[in-house]
Amino acid sequence: MEKTKYYGIYTKQNKKIKYYTENLTPGISFFGEKLIKENDKEYRETNIRRSKLFAAVSKHISNLFLKKNNIVLYLGASHGYTPSFISDIVSEGYVFCLDFAPRVVRDLVAVCEKRENMIPILADAKKIDEYKDRIDEVDIIYQDIAQKNQVEILFKNLEFLKDKGYVLFTVKARSIDVTKHPKQIFIEVEKKLCKNLKIIDYKILDPYEKDHCFFVCQKIN
Ligand SMILES: C[S@@+](CC[C@H](N)C(=O)[O-])C[C@H]1O[C@@H](n2cnc3c(N)ncnc32)[C@H](O)[C@@H]1O
Repeated sequence: MEKTKYYGIYTKQNKKIKYYTENLTPGISFFGEKLIKENDKEYRETNIRRSKLFAAVSKHISNLFLKKNNIVLYLGASHGYTPSFISDIVSEGYVFCLDFAPRVVRDLVAVCEKRENMIPILADAKKIDEYKDRIDEVDIIYQDIAQKNQVEILFKNLEFLKDKGYVLFTVKARSIDVTKHPKQIFIEVEKKLCKNLKIIDYKILDPYEKDHCFFVCQKIN
């Protein structure tokens, strides 16, 4: 297993490059992911077609800024697939995992019961008053929400992000406007993001996630 330039993310190259995180809950695979033991450590294999975070890694995004003791607010946590890998990376920090769909939050809760650093929250990311008393100031906001007003939802949640904190933001062009070319939407999103954030890098995630773009930004006051 080799380290990558991203903290807590490892790689192994056979026929294809694969990415791994060190398993915080050895012996437990939550989503059928392969577990690999090497030198007294256990690693979980990620799938770049299932996680936009690792699709961005395979596209060589410049930095993710995730560190071992980070506090992360994850908006659109769904069943917890990508959040569980972030929880491996921030092994001494924790992840607030928010989603508004009760059906997926049921599965998410089952994952969080086994992972002490994942905290499930059933709430709508547009209604920050409903959960602001349940979360702390965070180092990172990760957002993966397929809604028309994705940027506005992110902006509302920026009040939880510490100054100079980072945003990892997935944009699904088709949810914003199906009639426009995705690249046009990404340009418009970039312009909007610039109003409140410094854009550090972005990668279009095709062919792993069609019509998606992954932005890395920083909050600068
Ligand atoms: C594409 S899935 C996220 C997948 C997840 N990020 C992963 O990689 O494992 C998008 C999720 O956003 C949630 N979502 C959409 N709008 C939301 C909102 N306003 N508030 C909270 N969650 C929302 C959906 O319920 C869905 O589970």
